[in-house]
Parts: sequence; C-alpha cells; structure tokens
Amino acid sequence: KIIVLDFGSQYNQLITRRIRDLGVYSELMSHEITADEVKALNPKGIIFSGGPDSVYAKDALRVDPEIFKLGIPILGICYGMQLMAYNLGGQVKSDNGQYGRAAITVTSDDAKLFANTPKEQNVWMSHGDLVTKVPEGFTAVATSPECPIAAMQDTARNFYGIQFHAEVRNTDYGNDILKHFAFDVCHAEANWSMDDFIDLQIQHIRETVGDKKVLLGLSGGVDSSVVGVLLHKAIGTQLTSIFVDHGLLRKGEAEQVMNSLKGKFGLNIIQVNAADRFLSKLKGVSEPEKKRKIIGNEFIQVFNDEAQKLDGIDFLAQGTLYTDVVESGTDTAQTIKSHHNVGGLPEDMHFQLIEPLRTLFKDEARELGEKLGMPSDLVWRQPFPGPGLGIRVIGEITPEKLEIVRESDFILRDEIKKAGLDRDIWQYFTVLPGIRSVGVMGDGRTYDYTVGIRAVTSIDGMTADFAHIPYEVLAQISTRIVNEVKHVNRIVYDVTSKPPSTIEWE
Ligand code: XMP
Repeated sequence: KIIVLDFGSQYNQLITRRIRDLGVYSELMSHEITADEVKALNPKGIIFSGGPDSVYAKDALRVDPEIFKLGIPILGICYGMQLMAYNLGGQVKSDNGQYGRAAITVTSDDAKLFANTPKEQNVWMSHGDLVTKVPEGFTAVATSPECPIAAMQDTARNFYGIQFHAEVRNTDYGNDILKHFAFDVCHAEANWSMDDFIDLQIQHIRETVGDKKVLLGLSGGVDSSVVGVLLHKAIGTQLTSIFVDHGLLRKGEAEQVMNSLKGKFGLNIIQVNAADRFLSKLKGVSEPEKKRKIIGNEFIQVFNDEAQKLDGIDFLAQGTLYTDVVESGTDTAQTIKSHHNVGGLPEDMHFQLIEPLRTLFKDEARELGEKLGMPSDLVWRQPFPGPGLGIRVIGEITPEKLEIVRESDFILRDEIKKAGLDRDIWQYFTVLPGIRSVGVMGDGRTYDYTVGIRAVTSIDGMTADFAHIPYEVLAQISTRIVNEVKHVNRIVYDVTSKPPSTIEWE
C-alpha cells in the first residue's frame, strides 16, 4: 500500500482515492505518525499531502524527520514538497500565491514522474509559498513563470516534489504522474480490488466476532444496508438487525427494505413500528432544530429499548464511511462519529464497534453493494436524511401533511425515474411549506396547500446547484401531484443553489 500523510489539504482524500483507482490500496494517516509506525506498516511509498500552512510558521504541521531515513519513496505535493525542501535543507519563500490552471515546462529529460508526457502541460496550482532552492541531491525538473521550481526530484533517494496538485482533474497528466510514482518509483502492485476487499473483510469480521453476536441498526440507507448484507455473508445468524420505522420514511421504503434484506438476503431483522411514538412526541413542535433533536433522541430510545430485549450482544455494527472518519478528526485517533443515519450511538451501551466500510468512499460502498448482489434500487438510493420526512413538512408535523409529502414525493420519484434522470440528479424530493393559496378546480374555488419541488446536483452535499429539470418533466410532475394528491393546488420549483440555501428546507 501507499500511505498519504495528512497536512490538511482539501484534496487529501482525493489523493488516496486516485491511488486506489490505480488498484493500489491507499490510506490517509495523521502527519503525526512516527517513523517507527510507518516502518511497521511497511508501505511501498509515502505521499505528503498539501496543506494550508507555511513551513516556517511556528505551529506549522511537521513530519518525523526520521521518515526520510527509512528508504521508502516519498512524493511531496504542494505543502508536502515545501516540507520536504525545508527538512532536507532547501529553501522556501512566501509569495503572493497562485491559484488555478498554470502551464509548466518539463525541463529535464529524465524527469521520472513526467515520463511520456509532453514538455508543456497544464497543471492545477493552489499555493501560497514556493520552493526557491532545492535541497542537496535534488534537481529541479519543471518550471513555470510564476513558479520557477514547479517539480524536483532526487532519484537516488527516491524523493519527489511537485508544487501543483496531481490529484486534481485539472492537472492534465496528474494521473500519469501518480501512476509513475506508484509503479515506476514505488513498484507497487495493482492488486487492490473490491473482490479482495470483500474476502478480506469477511475473514476479518469472522476473526473479530468469533461465535459472539452482532447488532446492527438498519436505516434503509445504502451504508447500513451494505453492512447488513456483508455481515450476514460473514456471520449469518449471529447478526441481528433492528430497523426502526419512525413513520417519517418515504412511501414504500420500509416494505422495500424488509422485502429485499429480509426476504431476499435472509437477514434477521426486527422491525419496530414506532410511528405513533414519534408523532406524539412531535405534536405541537414547529421549530426545526427542536424537531431534529426529538427525532434523534427518540430514535436512540427506541433502538435502546429493543436492544435491551436481546441477550448476549457484544458488537454493534455501523455503516461509518471513510468520509465520516476523516471529518471527525485525525485518522489515527480512534474518534467515533455516530452514524448520523442511525441517529447516534446509544451512550450507555457498551458494545465494541464493527465498521467494515470505514476505509471506503460512498461510491465504493455502492460498488461493494453491487458486488454483493444487492438490487440497484437499494444501492443507488439518493441520500435521505435521518429525520426523514419530518424535516420536509415545514413547521408542525401532522398526519395529513405527512401524507401529502409522502404521496407527492412518490410521484416525483416516479417521474424522475421515468425521465431517466434518477442517476443524474443527486437528490430530489418534495416539501410542504404549509402555506395555502387560492386556486380553481372544476368550477370551484379551492384554498389548498402548495408543494415545493427540490432537486439538486451535487458532489458531496456540501454545495449544490438546483437541477435543470426539463420543463416538460416538471409539467408532468406538477399535473400528477395536483391531480393525485388531495389538498394540493399549486406546485413551485426551488431554484436556489447551496449556498445560499441548504438542500433541505429545514
Ligand atoms: P443540507 O440541508 O444541510 O443537507 O444542505 C445536506 C445533505 O445532508 C442531508 N441531511 C441529513 N442527513 N441527517 C442525515 O443523515 C440529518 O439530520 C440531515 N440533515 C440534512 C440532506 O438530505 C442533504 O443530502
């Protein structure tokens, strides 16, 4: 494997991702890792990520200098290159910085990482400081007007530095550069695949669990479902799953989850119908944060109550993804972020955690689900918030309003699918703002609800654009909702991006 040391770049996850895409297993690790720890991991290569610091700053993130003595190839990207220069006796200077596409010229014929790429090429720069003098043993191998030393190498020690971001698609030959590092320099083997992952995980789960029992909170979402199927494959009936139906799920969702996971895959699932319990707790509450808290707390309680009834459970499985792990702080520290789809870890329960997806990205979790034979409806689900339809009925939740959101959402999903847009649009749903307006139906005046359509494109939910759904599709959705859902006489389409809006309305 190739390890990536994290110096705080916004692209650091992307580096591990690109390396994995080459078939080489890669993991992001804290920059605080010691040389001895690295040695124990025995990686084929190390990449220093970029980062926002200045190497001369007092509290700049550093690396254990002994790492340079291990004989393991190192690639420093951006701050990583500056850190390398700083540690090995080069010079770094603060400057105005350079952000965006830049043209570089490869100046050396044996620039190892640039083999078989053009002399002139475009790269993505995003840096404040730059290296002004290479350390002894290094030669500068690429240059640009704004950044005279755009890349450097020391082929004897196998140290490489690039000032630009090879992991970003805007760097034309970024993938080639990473490939050269992984295969020509590190001699890594391209042997990481999802099939291996499944075998390894199953073996690992069996070893960890032994003959003990595991509990899983199923939410109906992709991550916990994939974990359920994987665990079932590994330990069969030693797994018990609890699926809490809080009454805020989409139309058909509970049935689909049960039919598929219990019916097809044979998971042992305890379905808890807690709709009344949630609805009565939510009665009269209209403040969004309060609603979220109530739903979250209630979820934990219901889960707890059910779990108490079970005997001899030692492990709790969760669908934590790599992004959850990285977001929760440094990777080496065992911070546990409660899986927000499950609504948080029951605090007074003392389980050991099993998180088989901990090293995977979302799309890798989906790929895993497909490899496990899960239906694409389940694997390609759009994101759905833990509080469910509870935050799509704006203000106080009533059974009548829930029904309107649920039915209109069903129609929207149906039409989006029919139009073949379900994979293109990241998330799409309806909301009920609670306003009523005047309309005319048949010969009569109506005074009914307005339904809002929200549909966005996004990469990670952090930012989003409203989706440009064709008018004809919108027209069809609008007609159907007004005709088929009672008490609706007007449809509006949300045309704001995030920011300034959020994806959900509450
Ligand atoms: P916002 O509305 O903040 O949503 O732009 C970003 C993404 O997060 C989802 N979301 C949640 N997911 N629990 C979740 O598991 C929550 O409480 C929650 N709130 C929002 C939202 O659907 C969107 O995909």
